[in-house]
Amino acid sequence: MGEGVLRRYKSFLPIGPATPMVSLGEGDTPLVKSQSLGRALGCAELYFKLEGCNPTGSFKDRGMVVAVAKALEEGSRAVICASTGNTSASAAAYGAYCGLTTIVLVPKGNIAMGKLAQAVAYGAHILAVNGNFDQALALVRDLAQKHPVTLVNSVNPYRLEGQKTGAFEVVDVLGDAPDYLCIPVGNAGNISAYWRGFRQYCQAEHATRTPRLLGFQAEGAAPLVLGHPVAEPHTIASAIRIGNPASWKLAIAARDESGGVIDAVSDEEILEAYKLLARSEGIFCEPASAASVAGLRKVVGQGLSLKGKQAVCILTGTGLKDPELANQIADIPLLELPPDLEQVEQAIVSLRGK
Ligand code: F0G
Repeated sequence: MGEGVLRRYKSFLPIGPATPMVSLGEGDTPLVKSQSLGRALGCAELYFKLEGCNPTGSFKDRGMVVAVAKALEEGSRAVICASTGNTSASAAAYGAYCGLTTIVLVPKGNIAMGKLAQAVAYGAHILAVNGNFDQALALVRDLAQKHPVTLVNSVNPYRLEGQKTGAFEVVDVLGDAPDYLCIPVGNAGNISAYWRGFRQYCQAEHATRTPRLLGFQAEGAAPLVLGHPVAEPHTIASAIRIGNPASWKLAIAARDESGGVIDAVSDEEILEAYKLLARSEGIFCEPASAASVAGLRKVVGQGLSLKGKQAVCILTGTGLKDPELANQIADIPLLELPPDLEQVEQAIVSLRGK
């Protein structure tokens, strides 16, 4: 418990005696059984993997710990990334922990408040680019070519190596791979990493099968569904506002080899799932994460039967990353009251009546 993914999955990772075994306690996140949604979808067993329970509140920590450990091993002094927010938060945390300089490029105005606060708190050098994530990624690729700085976006192969441990954990808990694995897709690294993890665990005979992968993009940022890059991606789920995913080919291969699909969900469907998860399951995740559940609801609505099936939704980040959104869409007015017992009692009665 809390030993971190490098120690826990050492034999499956590209690490050797010279790799520093750093850890902020990433991985080993809860796999929570659904209370109501699974039943509503006619699913025998539905689980949510709470990746928001990682040290910086998202799945990125699994890959970042490997990328940063390898950067240290190779003598690097600085790391750089482009990010819609979570990668930068994670890079900044592991950079601080390992004494590396961290430089992050974020799309100006399009990053959730909590994520920016994390990069600030961990002391990263933050550059807000007047452009989108895809443009910021192109810039950091060039910068890492020209300067002695390690690129820690998921184009760094160690990132996907670390992220595949999410698949290992699902199998370790369930005893085998589920029938379906639902996952949000942005830059397309995570779906590719999960597929690698499931395949490797099968080859190592820790699992007897692999799941069908169901990947979901936001409708306004769905290049993999459309089959071409999107120049100006838009969606309320800022984490996956990406028009030209770096792991495009790997994600398509993961989809096809697993017998799965990559589909799109609308912002309305994302927000519905986001609210449903919080109110009926007690799980507060970010909107991008809710795309996995929105997608599962969509495909079931279109006729996919989950009877007798086991499904897992990867909830990639915590809802606290984006408190502004949660407050914006709240339909519950905050009542202001004097500290008076009778008035508070009356207010409670009137709220319960609603
Ligand atoms: N969910 C969340 C919460 C994310 O932050 C991301 C990606 C994804 C899903 C999609 O994962 O890119 O591997 O397909 N966030 C990146 C970032 C792009 O910069 O933090 P993916």
